[in-house]
Amino acid sequence: MPTSTEKIFAEFKEHSVAEFFKKNQQMLGFSGKTRSLTTIVHEYVTNSLDACEEAGILPEITITIVELDRERYRVVAEDNGPGIPEKHLGKALGQMLAGTKFHRYCQQRGQQGIGASGCTMYAQITTGKPVHVVSRYDRKRISCDLSIDLKSNSPRIANLLKEEGDFGSGLRVEAEVAEVKYDMSSFGVYEYIRRTALANPHLQITLNAPDGQKFTFPRSDNRIPPKPVVVQPHPLGLSTNDLIDFAHREKECRKISSFLQERFARLSASKVDELRALCPDVDFEKNPQELQWQEAEKIVKAIHNEKVKWIAPSTDSVIPIGREQIEKSLRNILAPEFVAVTERPPKIYKGGIPFMVEAAIAYGGGAGKKNGAPEGAAASSEIIRYANRAPLLFDNSGCAITEAVKGIDWKRYKLKDFEEEPISVFVNLCSVYVPYTSAGKQAIADEEEVVQEIRNAVMEAARELQRYLGGKHRERDRAERKKAVLRYVPQLSRDLVELAGKGDAKSVEKELVRLIETKYSGQIENGGDEEEEALEEPEEKGGKEGGDEEE
Ligand SMILES: Nc1ncnc2c1ncn2[C@@H]1O[C@H](COP(=O)(O)OP(=O)(O)O)[C@@H](O)[C@H]1O
Ligand SMILES: [Mg+2]
Repeated sequence: MPTSTEKIFAEFKEHSVAEFFKKNQQMLGFSGKTRSLTTIVHEYVTNSLDACEEAGILPEITITIVELDRERYRVVAEDNGPGIPEKHLGKALGQMLAGTKFHRYCQQRGQQGIGASGCTMYAQITTGKPVHVVSRYDRKRISCDLSIDLKSNSPRIANLLKEEGDFGSGLRVEAEVAEVKYDMSSFGVYEYIRRTALANPHLQITLNAPDGQKFTFPRSDNRIPPKPVVVQPHPLGLSTNDLIDFAHREKECRKISSFLQERFARLSASKVDELRALCPDVDFEKNPQELQWQEAEKIVKAIHNEKVKWIAPSTDSVIPIGREQIEKSLRNILAPEFVAVTERPPKIYKGGIPFMVEAAIAYGGGAGKKNGAPEGAAASSEIIRYANRAPLLFDNSGCAITEAVKGIDWKRYKLKDFEEEPISVFVNLCSVYVPYTSAGKQAIADEEEVVQEIRNAVMEAARELQRYLGGKHRERDRAERKKAVLRYVPQLSRDLVELAGKGDAKSVEKELVRLIETKYSGQIENGGDEEEEALEEPEEKGGKEGGDEEE
């Protein structure tokens, strides 16, 4: 007998977003033991950095990890940021999809409001324990235990304590988590923190590791990065889905025409008229709340119609780390022999999304040392990837940065085998809208314009490295030649004295040595004589790769 429809649907249920993420933890980065721990640290550190940047505070963060049992740790994250006021504390850390950064079109690390609450959930489902939070702000100190009611996706607060007094400001979150692992691998917490320090020279960060070691990455620059500016999206970067989203969220504009004009960059009244002419069956006078999918699709198509010419978006939204700051930071942490940083103007991809690539190369010294490798181990290259200063540790091979860097013909830059060189290649992609390959936000999609710009930026730094290595090779050759010439001096001096039939070999020898020394030191100062110059590869040809160089 077939089951009745009623019976099948007896099990019909609704789930909260918290229950959804409980089942799909990997979407939040909770997959694999090492990665799960790194994810927790990442969420707390990015929140502290965002909060400090917004409050104009030079960030000081301490991460403490204590091993409690096998694969069970206590993670404490503490910052000197603005803290969270009591009335928002529960939602901020105990409710999924709640936060201050939602729908804000600006360059910040967090966006969805699922980072910190995701950690609260992870602690809860692996150890059954709430997180303990202490928030200091406006002469108050609030502490409580916090968990999420997963069924209703709402915060549960217990043991709330309030004190008044001068406590300064900041947030401290303590979470007990299991099924995680601390290690020194290139996916671990230490590496994550080291890379965060590299891209955030204004940050002072300390890691108290489970084995009792304390690592402090001191601040190398006192400038607070500019506050992220909220910008309007450019029409060319819009998908149909985005347009519907924006329209249905609209509360003030009563007409589609005014909504388009008010909410998007470079969309003037005359542009609205042009779009109107291209979409005769769309009513631009109706409420944006009523915009239908087919209509939005038509508008987006009209936006991309080649007859409509757009002014490129302003690139104000793009906030780079800065050339000087990157150099300081690399010198501070890697102590390399040589550093080159490129500074290139922002570009646009997909016609409407501004972005900027910062690239740097560190060579020699501590550059290219694999984390956790034994003392004296051979060097090997490393590619340090970032999106808006947040390190990307996972999904290395599917990332546009890796693809662009590995695609460069490094031999042309005097590097015999890129993999085995003491080199760190640093790339930061800044944009309000980073094209991640997936919700895990660990790899950048291969947008053609982005890949090309990464390649150009890295090659520009590589040319400086080539010049440096060229000079180094020349100096070495010169030293060898000088040594070879000096070898003949004693014999030659004796022969000269004999031929001339007068003089004294010792003083001739002294004079010859002086002449040779002067010649070779002169060459070094002058940057080499002609004969030596010819040994160097012709710069232009050696430095340029085919015809695909700059734009
Ligand atoms: N260390 C912190 N200091 C101040 N506010 C914070 C801190 N951590 C989190 N918050 C607040 O909690 C909100 C939620 O954080 P989170 O769940 O990580 O989402 P997101 O970072 O995507 O907004 C943030 O938007 C912010 O308002
Ligand atoms: Mg966050």
